[in-house]
Formats: sequence, C-alpha cells, structure tokens
Amino acid sequence: MRAADLGSDIKEVLYTEEQVHQRVVELAAQIDADYQDREVVLVGVLNGAVMTLADLCRSMNSHMTMDWMAVSSYGVGTTSSGVVRILKDLSGSIEGKDVLIVEDIIDTGLTLSYLLQNLSSRDPNSLEVMAMFRKPPALTSSVDVKYVGFDIPNEFVVGYGLDYAGHYRNLTDVATLAPHVYS
Ligand code: XMP
Ligand code: MG
Repeated sequence: MRAADLGSDIKEVLYTEEQVHQRVVELAAQIDADYQDREVVLVGVLNGAVMTLADLCRSMNSHMTMDWMAVSSYGVGTTSSGVVRILKDLSGSIEGKDVLIVEDIIDTGLTLSYLLQNLSSRDPNSLEVMAMFRKPPALTSSVDVKYVGFDIPNEFVVGYGLDYAGHYRNLTDVATLAPHVYS
C-alpha cells in the first residue's frame, strides 16, 4: 500500500518506497564489502524488521542465514515502557558466528543496548548492528550502530514494517500520521 492510498491518515511522507529501496541496496553493498567471504547471521528483531531484513538479504551477495528475536519494549502506543523482555528467542546458537542485528528503528536505544548485552554474552565471533531508521540521540549515543539507513526527526513514523498499534506495517512509504489518527 502506498501513502496516497491512505489519504488523510498521512501527515507527511518522509521517504518513498523507492528511496527506502535505494538505501537498502546501498547498505547491502556495504555489508557485502565488510563481510566478504564470511557467512553472516542476520538477526531480525520482530515484527518491525521483517521488511528490512527481507529486502536487505535479497540485495546481498554474501552467504547468510537468518534468525529472529521478538522483544517487547513498547506497548500498543508510541511511548517506550523502558522494560525489555524476550518474547521469542533465537532458534539457533550464535557462538563463534558473525552476527548482524537488523533493527527497524532506534529511538531511545534501550532495546538495542539490551540486545547487544544479551547477544554478546553468547560469544559470537562478531556482533554489529544495522538499523533502517534512527532518531536523534537520547540514549542512542551510547550504542554503536555500524549501518544506518536514515537519521530521522524525533517523530513517530509508520510504514516499511513500522506500526502504530499494529497497523500501517504494509505501507511501503515511510510517513508520519495525522493527529486525528491518534485521537
Ligand atoms: P527504543 O526506544 O528501545 O525503541 O530504541 C525501539 C523500538 O521502539 C519502536 N519504535 C517505533 N515504532 N514508529 C514505530 O512504529 C516509531 O517512530 C518508533 N520509535 C520506536 C520500535 O519497535 C523499535 O524497535
Ligand atoms: Mg521493533
């Protein structure tokens, strides 16, 4: 679904489907160059990173496997609860592997610092992060993100996997929502 199909629900389109796709292709090339002949485990953070990981891995030429984690940091709304809980753990071991966490968006950085701490304790050979979107540093300055799609303003965004109360994930553009959606 495109932003135009949503009419008055959309306040502003920040990135079009085409711009997002172009950036994913660039990041995939960068990742390929960095990993060369090493096999990388892409760890997607459900549900938001589904689109990013699916597109990223298809633009990569490196050998890869994928695994998924689900954590809760936000409730149904737009504010972080500050508490991170594992809802679904990885299916396989990452010991000795080259792991790349794939995140949809980094806001406070709480989710990511929890994930980094948790996954690094499993002794991967390397552990890096790719985030499709990143908001201005709150706590984010303390977490090292090697690959960033776009730095965006401190506004709630939807689309390309990002949701508001479970909706708008299938929007292919990335946009902010009109105030009436929240009321
Ligand atoms: P923290 O604050 O821990 O949050 O970095 C990261 C997680 O919060 C969600 N999040 C958003 N989801 N639009 C969304 O749809 C947003 O603007 C947004 N900001 C944060 C998201 O699940 C992310 O993994
Ligand atoms: Mg998420």
